[in-house]
Amino acid sequence: MSELAIHTNGLSKSFKAKQVLSGVDLRIPPGEVFALLGPNGAGKTTTVNILSTLSRPDAGTARVFGHDVVGEAARVRELIGVTGQFSAVDGLLTGRENLAMMAAFTHIPKPEQQARVDELLERFDLAEAGTKVASTYSGGMRRRLDLAMTLIARPRLVFLDEPTTGLDPRSRRTMWDIVDELVGDGVSIFLTTQYLEEADALADRIAMLDNGGIVAEGTPAELKRQMPGGHVRLEFATADDLDRARLLWSDAGAEAAELSLDVPGDGSVDHIRQLLTRLEGEGIEPRHLSIETPSLDDVFFALTGHRPETTPDIETAAGGTAPTDKEIAR
Ligand SMILES: Nc1ncnc2c1ncn2[C@@H]1O[C@H](COP(=O)(O)OP(=O)(O)OP(=O)(O)O)[C@@H](O)[C@H]1O
Ligand SMILES: [Mg+2]
Repeated sequence: MSELAIHTNGLSKSFKAKQVLSGVDLRIPPGEVFALLGPNGAGKTTTVNILSTLSRPDAGTARVFGHDVVGEAARVRELIGVTGQFSAVDGLLTGRENLAMMAAFTHIPKPEQQARVDELLERFDLAEAGTKVASTYSGGMRRRLDLAMTLIARPRLVFLDEPTTGLDPRSRRTMWDIVDELVGDGVSIFLTTQYLEEADALADRIAMLDNGGIVAEGTPAELKRQMPGGHVRLEFATADDLDRARLLWSDAGAEAAELSLDVPGDGSVDHIRQLLTRLEGEGIEPRHLSIETPSLDDVFFALTGHRPETTPDIETAAGGTAPTDKEIAR
């Protein structure tokens, strides 16, 4: 049996009286980009901290490539890299010095450290900026340096805790490209995000965290298909075609507009085939066909009754947005 990159059972954690995680079960195969999605205060960072051995669970177990995060913490640390929500970059050091410092903490033999630093500066487009102190870097450069520092020892699993919060669209895109490259290198990625588009764009699988538990899990497409409201939109060349098609689905809640007809369904291959066969039987040829799925935002809302953040939240000292507080108050 091939080993899971991450395997948790009943992971729970409270801070004082506040239960943050209550029984989180995850099974993440190696090579996957897994996104943990949730609003402010949902427990994303708490989960990352436990999985990366920085914090201990109160109950439950977590294994990284088969190693227990509590009992074999040192072994786990050798296999992972963590880019935290808050930067590990030292603003007083240059980019190169930051990387060299990280390299010194690793098992990389000293003579090879410099080459590794050069390679990463090059790869993250920081070769030129490498001689400047990091406090002069833009947010995007700082994030890239942060990630480069995470990769020094070639981890097999990388944790990215909100890697693009606060970045402009172009820097966000660059981070996404970097994640794609890492995946190409066979690195497993555990990502947290508040951005649904980010999870949608990057993740093979998404888990939605709310109120201490996973409320939904699946591929982006699977999650969207779970929602009512998915449909196939058929467009026709003539009003006559539309009218005849409408008769075929008169009892199925299809909605017509202009020259198009929305037929409820999940847009699976079977569904499409059935739909086209039915049209063909009547000699109707649709001009265009599109599958309309609800957004992840709709899914999250349907499951939790509130929406995850869509804008970066600077400081929520109380540990949550208003809807989250409401959830907790219940
Ligand atoms: N060390 C701590 N002591 C007390 N409470 C904590 C501690 N760490 C986290 N919490 C609380 O646990 C809850 C979950 O926090 P966590 O940082 O895991 O959320 P998050 O999903 O990462 O949120 P964000 O999107 O804001 O980063 C919050 O209510 C937070 O205030
Ligand atoms: Mg966090």
